[in-house]
Amino acid sequence: MASSWAGRPPSRRQTLAAALGGASLAVARPVLAAPATPSPSLNQLAKAKGLRFGSAIAAGASDARRMGGSIDNPDYVRVVAGECGLIVPENEMKMQTLRPGPEVFDFTRADRLMAFAAAYSLEVRGHNLLWHNNRWLPAWLNNYDFGSRPATTAERLLVTHIDTVCRHFGPRIRSWDVINETIDPDTGRMRETVLTRHLGDKVIDIAFHAARDALPDCQLVYNDYMEWEAGNERHRAGVLDLLERLRRDGVPVDALGLQSHLGGDSDLQGAPGAPQPAAWRSFLHGVTAMGHDLLVTELDMNDRTLPADPARRDAATATYVRDYLDLTLSFPQVRDVLCWGMLDRFSWLNGRAPRPDGLPRRPCPYDRENRPKPMREAIAAAMRAAPERAPSASGRRPVP
Ligand code: G3I
Repeated sequence: MASSWAGRPPSRRQTLAAALGGASLAVARPVLAAPATPSPSLNQLAKAKGLRFGSAIAAGASDARRMGGSIDNPDYVRVVAGECGLIVPENEMKMQTLRPGPEVFDFTRADRLMAFAAAYSLEVRGHNLLWHNNRWLPAWLNNYDFGSRPATTAERLLVTHIDTVCRHFGPRIRSWDVINETIDPDTGRMRETVLTRHLGDKVIDIAFHAARDALPDCQLVYNDYMEWEAGNERHRAGVLDLLERLRRDGVPVDALGLQSHLGGDSDLQGAPGAPQPAAWRSFLHGVTAMGHDLLVTELDMNDRTLPADPARRDAATATYVRDYLDLTLSFPQVRDVLCWGMLDRFSWLNGRAPRPDGLPRRPCPYDRENRPKPMREAIAAAMRAAPERAPSASGRRPVP
């Protein structure tokens, strides 16, 4: 379904109908019968400090495996509606989903999520305009025939994408991950893709400028997983180098997204590196000294090597998350904290390297029975302890 934001925003009736699959205009927001989430909610605690709290969520329907953590699952909806002030689509706004072909855009699933967000008064972060890694680019782009003027063609394809997507959602999205994960953690340098082959490093500049042109007031974010554990030194240095270069060249970057997939890489077989608080603090100082805001965009815990006993494992995760958030939220430039999923049973980590003992993962703030875990309390305590936020460095930050 190709569409454009140039039209009038949908009415509330249309919004609800779209959220429910367009089947009926008469159905109202569902009554949530299951027990309430704790009060105050994580988003209320966040708001008291000038922050927002949110989570990833999926649009469900066409994806049975991921349907759980989606707007079609009442358990998931109850927790997200109870705890969050904003959501981020787990996969629905990626180029692979939105643009099945060079001349085709399909906003069906993303629009379902937007309608869901409107029905529950949730804000939406955009993720992402360009995941700059061959593995996650659409096959049609990786195999594209760029013709006799490849640079012009590559730029047109990229700008058309960013312009079309930004204008489709318009100011309903006030923060976009413009570029996701362009730094190769092994080298600290930019990844080479079909786009850099024709545009060089300027592919990043082109993307940010196109986003700024389409949405002048939107917060534009570079998002990556240079985490605080040992083993990320080169990745962190590479991100700092990139941000420095972009600042020197006048590229409109407003903020750095700290993905915060804690506890080591998802494919890791051995033990993760130890946290490096001093190096992390210095990294965040380096980023904020450039005038950038910060966001925690994808918080969860890889508990692969933590104890088997659930109580001990949950306690270790809670302590780890609390330490991380205490340090990170001590930077008043952090504006948003989002988890990459709220319920253990639907976490993306379930599909990655299994625990050696084969036990199910516990990476999220709520367990498999939809009950809040110590990790949820750790996030709440970190919010309570966090300093109040100062005015935005860039002037472009979503207001809680
Ligand atoms: O939708 C298809 C389904 O039709 C098909 O049957 C199934 C078979 O494997 O695949 C389904 O697509 C999967 C999709 O998730 C939805 O479940 C893809 O294979 C799978 O690769 C995809 O994984 C997502 C991954 O990004 C790649 O896009 C994860 O759900 C998502 O959590 C993960 O999120 C990323 C962030 O975007 C960026 N930061 C890291 C984070 C974790 O990897």
